[in-house]
Amino acid sequence: MSGVCHHLRLLLLAEAVLCAAAIRFQDVLSSGTTFPVTSYKKLQGWSSDQNTWNEKLYPLWEEGDPRWKDSWKGGRVTAKLDTDSPALVGSNVTFVVTLQFPKCQTEDNDGNIIYERNCTQDPPVSQDQQVYVYNWTEWIDDCGWENCTSNHSHNVFPDGRPFPHFPGWRRRNFVYVFHTFGQYYQKIGRSSATFSVNTANISLGEHVMAVHIYRRGHSAYVPIARASAVYLVTDKIPLSVSMFQKHDRNISDSIFIKDSPITFEVKIHDPSYYLNNSAISYKWNFGDGSGLFVASGSTTSHTYTLQGNFTLNLTVQAIIPVPCKPVTPTAPPPTSAVTAGESSNSDSSITVETMEDNPDGGCHIYRNGYDITGISVVEGILEVNIIQMTSIQTTESQAENSLVDFVVTCQGR
Ligand SMILES: *[C@@H]1O[C@H](CO)[C@@H](O)[C@H](O)[C@H]1NC(C)=O
Ligand SMILES: *[C@@H]1O[C@H](CO)[C@@H](O)[C@H](O)[C@H]1NC(C)=O
Ligand SMILES: *[C@@H]1O[C@H](CO)[C@@H](O)[C@H](O)[C@H]1NC(C)=O
Ligand SMILES: *[C@@H]1O[C@H](CO)[C@@H](O)[C@H](O)[C@H]1NC(C)=O
Ligand SMILES: *[C@@H]1O[C@H](CO)[C@@H](O)[C@H](O)[C@H]1NC(C)=O
Ligand SMILES: *[C@@H]1O[C@H](CO)[C@@H](O)[C@H](O)[C@H]1NC(C)=O
Ligand SMILES: *[C@@H]1O[C@H](CO)[C@@H](O)[C@H](O)[C@H]1NC(C)=O
Ligand SMILES: *[C@@H]1O[C@H](CO)[C@@H](O)[C@H](O)[C@H]1NC(C)=O
Ligand SMILES: *[C@@H]1O[C@H](CO)[C@@H](O)[C@H](O)[C@H]1NC(C)=O
Ligand SMILES: *[C@@H]1O[C@H](CO)[C@@H](O)[C@H](O)[C@H]1NC(C)=O
Repeated sequence: MSGVCHHLRLLLLAEAVLCAAAIRFQDVLSSGTTFPVTSYKKLQGWSSDQNTWNEKLYPLWEEGDPRWKDSWKGGRVTAKLDTDSPALVGSNVTFVVTLQFPKCQTEDNDGNIIYERNCTQDPPVSQDQQVYVYNWTEWIDDCGWENCTSNHSHNVFPDGRPFPHFPGWRRRNFVYVFHTFGQYYQKIGRSSATFSVNTANISLGEHVMAVHIYRRGHSAYVPIARASAVYLVTDKIPLSVSMFQKHDRNISDSIFIKDSPITFEVKIHDPSYYLNNSAISYKWNFGDGSGLFVASGSTTSHTYTLQGNFTLNLTVQAIIPVPCKPVTPTAPPPTSAVTAGESSNSDSSITVETMEDNPDGGCHIYRNGYDITGISVVEGILEVNIIQMTSIQTTESQAENSLVDFVVTCQGR
């Protein structure tokens, strides 16, 4: 028994040594959730998080490490990661990272960080030297891309790939490493960065996008901030329905009056214009027995002639043109095995996803979106008439008092 334990300890030790020898992107970027290497499909332009991470050039600090307090002059930098999720599978989902510097610091046109003028009452000495928090132009010019006396080893990403040479690369002093779905994407940027991912290969459901941000340092890059955001990939067209009625007292309470038209307006959330070339139809069932209305426009109007509570049921269908797949089905490669997320999506049967030939010769996929809303229809007061009264019966006691009380009762709204 003790022999087994001893053996086990040796194994653990060996594993620890191996891990220390090669830190992978996964170890740095994934906070808890790890993907089995073979369970995901590849994202175009992204790399597997099994690649090794250059820890010497891009040090890894745990949260709470005392070195964080020196990661930036004058305070901590925070990062905000925003997304335009939910995304219809196949469309792009876009992320925006914005760095927030300590008070009174800002990025100038050259990508250097300067103190904002007149921001504090007590400005840091009026010498030019003190204008900069970080004068990176100076550092880069010391050892520029074209003419560096030492190595170029500095201008590389954590996986060793060199920075791209596009014009203006020198003004981008932050390295952003994004991580999702078992893969990473790295880019250099200024104090904010935007990028899009195509969701065609991402399984349905919620996923986490994480980003780690490093700044240029003297001999290595310095971690300054991390952020993450949850995004949703769905096979239902994301949409919302707005309803308007003339003289509506409360536009958000779904209560409308009888015999007056209600305007329904559908807004499809499609920030990457994935559905630009699709044929979109709107199937309305107003729930009052009036039947099914099919429209090609996103706005329609309906008048309820009955009082009561109704369920509006809208189905939006998009017919999306796609390139035709080869006739012979190809066996899926081992790396594109269906993930648990996809197979557990039980209601995917609702979506009709078929590729078929059609009159104009192309192939299409069908995507649906739904909205089900409860509507209350009440009797309305469309107008109030003032009736002139010529004779009012009064009692004796009232005759002495020239005041007359009126009681007006209204029904509806
Ligand atoms: C999806 O995966 C396939 C196969 O791995 C790849 O060829 C394709 O470029 C990927 N598409 C996107 C949009 O990531
Ligand atoms: C800063 O303050 C000084 C004097 O108070 C003023 O002359 C100058 O215009 C201000 N500069 C800016 C950029 O506001
Ligand atoms: C910042 O660096 C640039 C380029 O080397 C230099 O021209 C400038 O004088 C520097 N500014 C300061 C305040 O050191
Ligand atoms: C490269 O370095 C040499 C010698 O230090 C210098 O004469 C030359 O101007 C530099 N070129 C550039 C593009 O900085
Ligand atoms: C230059 O690169 C080599 C190997 O990549 C490394 O051993 C050496 O320390 C580097 N020199 C400098 C000055 O960075
Ligand atoms: C979608 O994202 C890819 C990068 O993943 C980009 O090349 C493409 O232009 C984007 N398309 C749209 C319509 O935004
Ligand atoms: C309008 O309706 C909403 C939802 O029922 C309710 O929260 C809100 O208080 C209403 N506003 C007014 C002014 O009645
Ligand atoms: C999609 O259509 C909108 C508005 O009609 C237009 O502004 C946008 O440029 C189009 N985008 C693409 C990728 O076709
Ligand atoms: C309609 O629904 C409201 C609350 O949702 C309820 O108070 C009301 O009694 C219902 N009216 C009818 C006619 O069912
Ligand atoms: C809404 O309508 C669709 C078909 O148009 C139907 O499949 C679905 O069951 C309806 N949902 C409700 C709640 O009535």
